[in-house]
Amino acid sequence: MTCPPILVFDSGMGGLSVLAPIRAALPQAPVVYVADNAGFPYGSKSEAEIAARVPALLGRLTERYRPRLIVIACNTASTIALAHVRAALDVPVVGTVPAIKPAAEATETKVIGVLGTPATVRQAYVDNLAAEFASDCVVLRHGTPELAAMAEAKLRGEEVPAEDYAAVMAGLTGQPHGVDMDIVVLACTHFPLVEDELAAAARRPLRFVHGGQGIARRVAHLLRDADWTGCEPTGLAVFTLRDEKSAALVPALAVRGLDVDYL
Ligand code: DGL
Repeated sequence: MTCPPILVFDSGMGGLSVLAPIRAALPQAPVVYVADNAGFPYGSKSEAEIAARVPALLGRLTERYRPRLIVIACNTASTIALAHVRAALDVPVVGTVPAIKPAAEATETKVIGVLGTPATVRQAYVDNLAAEFASDCVVLRHGTPELAAMAEAKLRGEEVPAEDYAAVMAGLTGQPHGVDMDIVVLACTHFPLVEDELAAAARRPLRFVHGGQGIARRVAHLLRDADWTGCEPTGLAVFTLRDEKSAALVPALAVRGLDVDYL
């Protein structure tokens, strides 16, 4: 590839919620979207597994695709492995941070929910964000092990029962102060893909926030002086495992302008 691409990385399809605003901000940029479906879901893995897996894989991907910038479009990988990846690679790396700051600025009831994977919501990183930006709020957290897989099933065109989304939302609203919550941080990049379903499952109107737009602004800022001469806005989606589920995602990726390949 003569024009270095932007490499967007996630355990699966969640990073598409970050890729879309990046492509809107930088329509001339070629992109390589990598889904580590061989490792999916990250949210149920240990810190040690993620801290070992993600830098090693991004090292391989950097050698192969020579990106000008990497976006870790995954809260789980970012909250655990961002520092390790930055230390290991000589490429700018943008991570994903739960959008607790904008949620704390927008809440009226001062009760905010953080919906993430089990691995993300237990990170000290999240405690620090809550202490720094939301010290005047009650911050409820729920780590859902199944919502990322439900979002992937939806993308494959499968039916996911509304009760399953309601059960996920009950993990937040069922907590003390949960009835007063007015805003939910989607702290997993898969979750904006099912925002409508989550909103429909909630018993009262809720606002949802996530980091996609902020990441796109950061990427555009870092690449403000980039030379795009000779670049074509190509899109490639790369899976780390060839299986039936990845094959079933090909139409959803084609709609988003992404051809499919395997590592
Ligand atoms: N999309 C990922 C995140 O933002 C995690 C999904 C998973 O692999 O569990 O946390």
